[in-house]
Amino acid sequence: MTQKGLRILVADDDPQMQLAISATLGRGGHDVVTVGDGQRALETLEAELFDLVISDQRMPEMTGQELLAQIQKREMPVPFIMITAHGTINQAVEAMQLGAADFISKPFSAEELERIVDRVMSPENRAFRSKSKRARRGKPIISSDPVMIRVLSVAEAVARSDATVLVQGESGTGKELIARLIHTSSPRAEQPFVAVNCAALPATLLESELFGHEKGAFTGAQQRKIGKFEMAQGGTILLDEISEMDLALQAKLLRVLQEREVDRVGGRDPITIDVRVIATTNRNLEDAVRNGLFRADLFYRLNVIPITLPPLRERRGDIKLLIDHFMKQYLADSAPELSPEILRALLNYRWPGNVRELQNAVERAAILSQGAAPKESDFLLHNSFTDNSALKVEVEHVASVPSEQAAPNVSALSDSLQISAGVTVQEMERRLILETLKATNDNRTQAAKLLGISIRTLRNKLHEYGHSGADQSE
Ligand SMILES: Nc1ncnc2c1ncn2[C@@H]1O[C@H](COP(=O)(O)OP(=O)(O)OP(=O)(O)O)[C@@H](O)[C@H]1O
Ligand SMILES: [Mg+2]
Repeated sequence: MTQKGLRILVADDDPQMQLAISATLGRGGHDVVTVGDGQRALETLEAELFDLVISDQRMPEMTGQELLAQIQKREMPVPFIMITAHGTINQAVEAMQLGAADFISKPFSAEELERIVDRVMSPENRAFRSKSKRARRGKPIISSDPVMIRVLSVAEAVARSDATVLVQGESGTGKELIARLIHTSSPRAEQPFVAVNCAALPATLLESELFGHEKGAFTGAQQRKIGKFEMAQGGTILLDEISEMDLALQAKLLRVLQEREVDRVGGRDPITIDVRVIATTNRNLEDAVRNGLFRADLFYRLNVIPITLPPLRERRGDIKLLIDHFMKQYLADSAPELSPEILRALLNYRWPGNVRELQNAVERAAILSQGAAPKESDFLLHNSFTDNSALKVEVEHVASVPSEQAAPNVSALSDSLQISAGVTVQEMERRLILETLKATNDNRTQAAKLLGISIRTLRNKLHEYGHSGADQSE
């Protein structure tokens, strides 16, 4: 599959680097020309035709970025790979935003260089680049917030590369949405997108879920099973809630990412995989590394391109946009205007469950108000989280939700939630969750809705608390 005989121009002021790159690519059967600065690179490009340019970012006089900008200005359409310094994510992102085909960060091995050149020059990639702007599919991402807009442009820029992305952010901020955006904006868009929740399964099961197993690999392995990495072949794998992965499995995952091979449990021959990895976490992974709960080497492997989603309360401008968006979604043309009081209350609310909570609140209000203008109480916000305490939990409306389930006793809930000074937020959260569950008779679906969190998050929290109550939902 590997192409030979490409004409490649290398711009680097470091003679050793020039030598190393041209030796590697020369061995691969390519025709390599090296120059020591950007000006020479431009002159050479104007005189001769090249299939590819590889340039260092840091060069005296003209940086790699300036060279790329000049090439674009002169409309010389040639794929460009930027060599960036170790740990300088901004350089990589900016290069991609400027239109670089890919980037490679120092130090890199001969194999890594070959892999990136192969990928950039693959027919799929060329076809992808020649299409101007890909029609994006999937759910729209609503935002007018500068931080979010920056996040979106980083996501779209790095989508073209194969770089591993780590998406951090509180629950409900849109991490999965971003992961899907990266996939659908990438040359892998036609290939599978496979999501695995690392918090949902115990370590042994998660291992065979990720890597697969052979028949008879362990008691109960009656069939061969294909792992998610193999299922994602050619596409993208989303490792959701990566912080919850057990340390032993982290070591195995690290090996997979380094070797780009997976071993099915009980299997003999490793399977080569070509998969883009996106990981998400709603815990601070750097803290987890400091506390010895997450491997530092795996963290660095994953954190090639870090993307952090701000919580909704830090982008209040988005609240109104999102309300309008979801109102239209649930009520179409009949969506009523919200009164200024309600809007004020919604804008002042802390939204601990972020966009997911807002979406649920709007959906609930749309159902409860039945076409009329919704009342403040229809949004069922949690009083204790409101900044200006303008809102109250209105129990009656829970009772009026058309549902077979009995209304949860939320007033009993507030009685049993005694707040005393010196209690940590975490402890309050734990109490709130357990009491809500009690009030809903262990109905997790209903409890999660009331708490404004996902069922999955609820499940994870309960797991964390060692709670083993039967789930009464469904
Ligand atoms: N900016 C946005 N525009 C429109 N919808 C959004 C936006 N952000 C999030 N959503 C919606 O909110 C819900 C939660 O988003 P998502 O599942 O991506 O969050 P998450 O960060 O992965 O949450 P968790 O940590 O709980 O898994 C989804 O239904 C998603 O479509
Ligand atoms: Mg998620």
